[in-house]
Amino acid sequence: MPQHRLALCSQDFLKWFEKTVHRTVKEFRMFSEEDRVLVAVSGGKDSLALWKVLRKLGYSADGLYIDLGIGEYSSRSQERVLALADQLGAELITVNLREELAAIPELREYSSRETCSLCGMVKRYFFNKVARERGYDVVATGHNLDDEAGALLGNVLGWNLRYLGRKLPVLEEEEGFVRKVKPLVRLTEKETALYCILSGIDYIEEECPFSEGAPTISYKEILNSLEEKSPGTKMRFYFEYIRRVAPLFERGVHRELTTCRVCGEPSPAEVCGICRLRERVVNLKGTGRSSTG
Ligand code: AMP
Ligand code: FES
Ligand code: ZN
Repeated sequence: MPQHRLALCSQDFLKWFEKTVHRTVKEFRMFSEEDRVLVAVSGGKDSLALWKVLRKLGYSADGLYIDLGIGEYSSRSQERVLALADQLGAELITVNLREELAAIPELREYSSRETCSLCGMVKRYFFNKVARERGYDVVATGHNLDDEAGALLGNVLGWNLRYLGRKLPVLEEEEGFVRKVKPLVRLTEKETALYCILSGIDYIEEECPFSEGAPTISYKEILNSLEEKSPGTKMRFYFEYIRRVAPLFERGVHRELTTCRVCGEPSPAEVCGICRLRERVVNLKGTGRSSTG
């Protein structure tokens, strides 16, 4: 690992990985031993590794899987999540999107949003709703350094100030939002894959069929080629942003929020995006039509 000037054997790598997660949780005051953590697990390497490490470190961490209804991809993901829940003897909550709203491939017909962004909105909504309803203190996701540095690059290229202000390892609890944390921000994609392989976690390697051609993939590639020439670039890009730039956004880029009249979740409008979608699904299903709007 040239960016850390470290070369480790497998046993030491596993210890180093766990220590790095622990250090990140402490450094950013993500949660304590008393908190109830809900880990959003997708079946991919990052979130499964995170779940295992948090349990190993002694945190109270249950899993949340959202069955998005994306054909074989979703069923194969779910198998991996169930297998790890079994291995850990941990509680797993499953939300079936088909029952709650509509499966992602169907939901696309009711929204003009690009699929991944629509899916992201749906996932964030249920992470928060489930955590709030079941009394969890914090939601942890498996976003790693590559995800965060890639997304940061994308937001910088578009000078997207609203998203830039929220690209942080911790989003504090506010106005109906449970605290959100990303304990893997110090670890790369390669490192989480290695952790899974060395610690016997079976994860889904294929990507979601809708992610093909997503711009974040090319941002990650650009950062990887910079990293190869100059190890440590990715870390520096992300952590210097957190240290020096993000505090400038603390005031100012704030959304005005109210409470959704229908479901009670926080929302920028009187009725939240998910309830508006649900209304469209119900109405158009009733008339047997579908629409984009
Ligand atoms: P992604 O947006 O697919 O890169 O996923 C980012 C993080 O969101 C993952 O590391 C998981 O923590 C969480 N996540 C993604 N998909 C799901 C899912 N279907 N169910 C639960 N959590 C998920
Ligand atoms: Fe949601 Fe791919 S996982 S669109
Ligand atoms: Zn709502």
